[in-house]
Amino acid sequence: MFGPDSRVVVVVGAQWGDEGKGKLVDVLAERADWVVRYQGGANAGHTVDLGDRSFVLHQIPSGILHPGVRCAIGNGVVLDPDTLFEEIDGLVTAGIDVEGRLYVSERAHLVLPYHKMVDAASASSKAIGTTGRGIGPAYEDKIARRGVRVLDLRHPERLREVVEKGAENARSRLARSGSDKVVDVDAVLAQLERLSKRLLPLADDVSLTVHRALKARAAILLEGAQGSLLDIDHGTYPYVTSSSTTAGGAAIGVGIGPNEIDAVVGVVKAYTTRVGNGPLPTELAEPLQSEVRKLGNEFGATTGRARRCGWFDALVVKYATRVNGLSDLAVTKLDVLDTLDRVAICTGYEINGEMHEDFPGDLLALEKVVPRYEWLDGWQTSTADARTLDELPSQARAYLDRVESLVEAPITYVSVGTRREQIIGI
Ligand code: GDP
Ligand code: IMO
Ligand code: MG
Repeated sequence: MFGPDSRVVVVVGAQWGDEGKGKLVDVLAERADWVVRYQGGANAGHTVDLGDRSFVLHQIPSGILHPGVRCAIGNGVVLDPDTLFEEIDGLVTAGIDVEGRLYVSERAHLVLPYHKMVDAASASSKAIGTTGRGIGPAYEDKIARRGVRVLDLRHPERLREVVEKGAENARSRLARSGSDKVVDVDAVLAQLERLSKRLLPLADDVSLTVHRALKARAAILLEGAQGSLLDIDHGTYPYVTSSSTTAGGAAIGVGIGPNEIDAVVGVVKAYTTRVGNGPLPTELAEPLQSEVRKLGNEFGATTGRARRCGWFDALVVKYATRVNGLSDLAVTKLDVLDTLDRVAICTGYEINGEMHEDFPGDLLALEKVVPRYEWLDGWQTSTADARTLDELPSQARAYLDRVESLVEAPITYVSVGTRREQIIGI
């Protein structure tokens, strides 16, 4: 992906999250100088398998497993300082050296204990099926201009003021939800004082640092979390997360101009999954859904919840191509379909008797979708050892060709297993 004319590459999820962004970022980070997360928070779970070890990264960029790569958490992220250090300590225990190569934007907003309480207690969070990590309430405070930023930790007086504002709002939210949870400002401040000793040394003007790196022609990977269909504007609202997951969010969430971005890689599974509630037009019927879930080990990396599974939905990915300006597509988990005798691709939605080939914005329309499927032969051969397109069975190639022609973006990578080397670069 990186070359003389390609210095900034964005990796985004092009479905409903968990597409395998962690694996792809780890592979691409081999040639990167920097990997920067630009939105979301500890709701993300990005899995990277290294040999027989499996790492799940929530807030730290997936480039951290490459020793020479520097990693940053951008201003667009809502940072949970408590679990950040759990994550860092876990990596250090596993022998990963994090010291001196992890930076946190001083402009990033903090997720505080009361955000998690509100998320856990709120009926709307339950209806959406959030991860309970306090993401929505933290972004709400940011937009309502009562958020707490990393740089506030430098000013104890001001910190108390902003925490009090946030706490007051949280208390009324909790009371309305009938929760008996108590928000203790002194306890929050005491925890922040303790954490700031470790957090402030990581605080940085990430936008400026990335700008300088760009001037020095560094290769920079911007790592998205969640997926395009969970984007606050472009997703299946209100069944979405609270940030701009799409490529436009990358420029904002790091602090660079959109014209600096050279390539946008959309990661998609060879089928579709979704965790949490909301429309999933191609959701499989039982017992096939359970079979695919088992084949793909589709259980959430953050919450352990069973992921809902469906056939590949070309309308979803064509839409993601458009709203992200995808230059490339990385198809993951092709191997999961290896044993099926036939596979389907959704090529159209019938809604109220009318055919649609573009993804609609109206949730009520989405609920009525009858998917139109195109059936293709399965390959019933293992693809796990394929390292070139030629080594794939012809039926698998036909499947990928059909996907490519429908979604209007070229497939540049095909992943056929969790390990680093299990990838075909096209
Ligand atoms: P992310 O949130 O987009 O980083 O994805 P997750 O890590 O939540 O979920 C993807 C899961 O699929 C992880 O368990 C990965 O190890 C696994 N995975 C990634 N690529 C492949 C692949 O090509 N084949 C198989 N079988 N598993 C994969
Ligand atoms: P990665 O980065 C899949 C989903 C939740 C819920 C909705 C809102 O691993 O792909 P939130 O806690 O963000 O307010 O929940 O978004 N969700 C994800 N689904 N992968 C993720 O992250 C997700 N992060 C949030 O399940 O439906
Ligand atoms: Mg995930």
